[in-house]
Amino acid sequence: MNRRSFLKSAGASALFAGGRLAGARAAFAQTAPRPLPLIPMKDLTGGINERIPLHLKVGRHDFGNGVLSDTFGINQEYLGPVLRVKQGQTLPFDVRNDIGDTSTLHWHGLHIPGDVDGGPHQEIEQGQVWSPDVPIVQHASMNWFHSHMHGKTARQTYTGLAGVLLVEDDASLSADLPKTYGVDDFTLVLQDKMFGGDGKMAYELSGEVFEDGFEADTLVINGAIAPVAQEVPSGLIRLRILNACNARFLTLSMATGPVTVIASDGGFLSAPVETAEIVMSPGERYEILVDMRQAESNALNVAYDEGGLGFLVNLFGGSQTLTALILQRSSRKGFTGSMPKQLANLAPPRPYDATVTRSFELQMDVGADLAALALAWDNFCGNAGAMAINGLPMQMDRIDEEVRKGDTEIWRISVDDQLHPFHIHGCSFRILTQNGAPAPAYAQGWKDMVHVEEGWSEVLVRFDHTAPADAPYMYHCHILEHEDCGMMGQFTVT
Ligand code: C2O
Ligand code: CU
Ligand code: CU
Repeated sequence: MNRRSFLKSAGASALFAGGRLAGARAAFAQTAPRPLPLIPMKDLTGGINERIPLHLKVGRHDFGNGVLSDTFGINQEYLGPVLRVKQGQTLPFDVRNDIGDTSTLHWHGLHIPGDVDGGPHQEIEQGQVWSPDVPIVQHASMNWFHSHMHGKTARQTYTGLAGVLLVEDDASLSADLPKTYGVDDFTLVLQDKMFGGDGKMAYELSGEVFEDGFEADTLVINGAIAPVAQEVPSGLIRLRILNACNARFLTLSMATGPVTVIASDGGFLSAPVETAEIVMSPGERYEILVDMRQAESNALNVAYDEGGLGFLVNLFGGSQTLTALILQRSSRKGFTGSMPKQLANLAPPRPYDATVTRSFELQMDVGADLAALALAWDNFCGNAGAMAINGLPMQMDRIDEEVRKGDTEIWRISVDDQLHPFHIHGCSFRILTQNGAPAPAYAQGWKDMVHVEEGWSEVLVRFDHTAPADAPYMYHCHILEHEDCGMMGQFTVT
């Protein structure tokens, strides 16, 4: 699972050495565990009577080190709200852009037509409002929304243009599962952040960072520097987790006992899956249950992949693992039911239904001088096509694939180097093979992200909505710097 050699990662962290790293360390060491910040939740499952405003704006936010960082937020200073909606609704959004630069807002995970998908073709100029009516036809699932401004997705998302969209359906609303937000049902947005010597959130690109993606040294949950402690009821606790890092794979485990996974990107698994750990790429979502009757306290642990692990490891007793969230049993009242046996009806994938097979090779090395581009592009990834898929860097005016609506297809993805998280818009798919092997049991349900390293990965996919040539869907690496650098393609569905 290591994406790079140790030497390379040592080089990457050296880029951030000097005063800035020291500043971040001092701030971190002073931070005592405190309650998990709850992201404001807007529950629309009871009905929608008016347009839903989402205001992309400039903000200032204290991540917990006592310093106000310059951020972007959606309706708030940093990140966006958690929106809770229901299958069958149409969401009338008014997305106003006031960040001082052009942006877009993409609904990652939603099965919606291309013209409301919020990809790079649906630009919102500074001061303008984009008003898509977004139909929710899919089942209960954890989705998210983030900037998809071509060449600037990485920087804008890192700065704070990201939020969570929880889709519920009749089954999930009546399911015997914890669902009281902030009591027994928590949404966790995991990110890694770099803080400069002045304590402010920093984002800096270099050739090395283009190559590895931006990987920072401080774990942040819901906008707060970890670790955080949360008093919870004595029963089942539900954690809905999003890896919103630009580039970092995170390995999640529990301090006590296995991880019980109940849902992946696109919805519930057929039954809970117990696993020692979950490897989560940027863009992935998993829901887990923690039984607080088993232990007085438990903790969600996060291990970073190698790059930049540096000083955090030392702070946490030399282990490779960080305590990300401490769950402390209390007398609070919450969900009292038991661990579910069955969650959803999920038939095994039927690859023999596929009538089309497409191959994609993700290419890091197309001969570009990444260091020179980093200098030239002034802290965003430009649009210069330094990486590619099937030999071609992303071009806004080139359609790469044409898909027939309703066809079942196999997409086979391979790489020339490194581990990449591959994402497809407008669908959920099933993983047939991941790096030449079956996917772990927790990743065998509905997904819109697949890991691609050695060998190849194959997914079985069907597109049920249309995406015309002027509003195509994207497929891309979800290391956001790779995406911005051109590791992305476009397809129509007609
Ligand atoms: Cu998270 Cu193209 O998207
Ligand atoms: Cu997406
Ligand atoms: Cu990549």
